[in-house]
Amino acid sequence: MVTVIDVENVSKQFKIHHERSQSLKERLLHPRSGSTEVFSALSDISFSVSSDETVGILGHNGSGKSTLLKCICGVLQPTSGQIRLRGSLAALLELGAGFQTELSGRDNVYLYGAMLGLSKRGVDAIFDDIVAFSEIEHFIDTQVKFYSSGMYVRLAFAVAVNVDPDILVVDEVLTVGDERFQAKCVDRIRTFQEEGRSILLVTHQADQVRALCDRAIVLDGGLMIANGPVQDSLRIFREHLLEDAVEHDRVGHQAEVSIDSVTTPTGSFDVRSGAGMHFDVHISSHTAYSGNFVMELFTRAGMLVSRSDAQGSPVNLKPGANQVGVDLPQIPLLDGVYDVNVGIVDYHGTVIAWKEQAASIQVTYNGREGGLVELGASIRQL
Ligand SMILES: Nc1ncnc2c1ncn2[C@@H]1O[C@H](COP(=O)(O)OP(=O)(O)OP(=O)(O)O)[C@@H](O)[C@H]1O
Ligand SMILES: [Mg+2]
Repeated sequence: MVTVIDVENVSKQFKIHHERSQSLKERLLHPRSGSTEVFSALSDISFSVSSDETVGILGHNGSGKSTLLKCICGVLQPTSGQIRLRGSLAALLELGAGFQTELSGRDNVYLYGAMLGLSKRGVDAIFDDIVAFSEIEHFIDTQVKFYSSGMYVRLAFAVAVNVDPDILVVDEVLTVGDERFQAKCVDRIRTFQEEGRSILLVTHQADQVRALCDRAIVLDGGLMIANGPVQDSLRIFREHLLEDAVEHDRVGHQAEVSIDSVTTPTGSFDVRSGAGMHFDVHISSHTAYSGNFVMELFTRAGMLVSRSDAQGSPVNLKPGANQVGVDLPQIPLLDGVYDVNVGIVDYHGTVIAWKEQAASIQVTYNGREGGLVELGASIRQL
């Protein structure tokens, strides 16, 4: 395997100028008065990406994800450190980056192609594919400033995936646009993976990271706090989010809740396909707290099998130790190990407490169906 992106000790600082409020006369006399603060958006980041690898980047708002991608794409220059790329790169940066809004969609496609080193003829050859993928035929000669954010992303994604890059960099835009188009983009990303290209993907959606990435990096305040297997990085990301949330809560005098463990009456998490199962979730709370209980079940390959209804399972926690029982009346899954995540969310859906891989259920199946679930289809010739 070849390293296609090599990020070495990259830091990026921004100078922020704070204007002192002043009269017009003062402004004329001292045009640059006020103070300048140096802000570190990225601190000493190092990692590499191999050909064939899809790496996710997770982090809160403002943690430096877009800044990192912009440095990799060459839109921004790191303050220190080095970035080496091998192969061609196409990027789908934040909304607003990349397109000239006064120009039409058509002109932007040519401009973007030129930026990526394609000749006019090169773009001519893929133009129809781009427009077809974007599904905005009727608006291709409209100025981009009149596009909706969904249309904008459709066109930008269509260009990025049709210019045949070795490396595709995508900043969060997969959450824009309707579900059908998102699914189409995800399909295209899968094709890219099969073709052995490298992908760097910024997203807030844990499900997307699980479904698409081989590895994930977590940024926090410009520092890289994780770089490893998706499950591990997601755990760090979620637990970190929670730590911060707890900090806020202390100020707001809210509950501090934690999930201690998940147990079964027999101590075993083995179950036969089609049978039921009961487990208990042990939760501590510092104060009385009302929220909702959520449970997720994942395959080892990172596919979400089921998430319980987060609105539909209210729990009233008392100060101290609490127990929540979960009954799964009938598990229709086929052979395999399924990871259970459990959590408490508030009424807005914000996670208050979370435990990733709180338990692993081992299902054994003796039937002959293949796949994920037993449908019990009966087939007869008519
Ligand atoms: N051009 C700039 N000048 C000054 N500060 C900047 C600039 N660009 C970004 N920043 C700051 O750097 C930090 C990181 O920003 P960045 O856009 O990389 O975050 P992000 O992780 O992509 O966040 P989000 O999830 O909201 O997209 C933020 O505090 C932001 O305000
Ligand atoms: Mg961003």
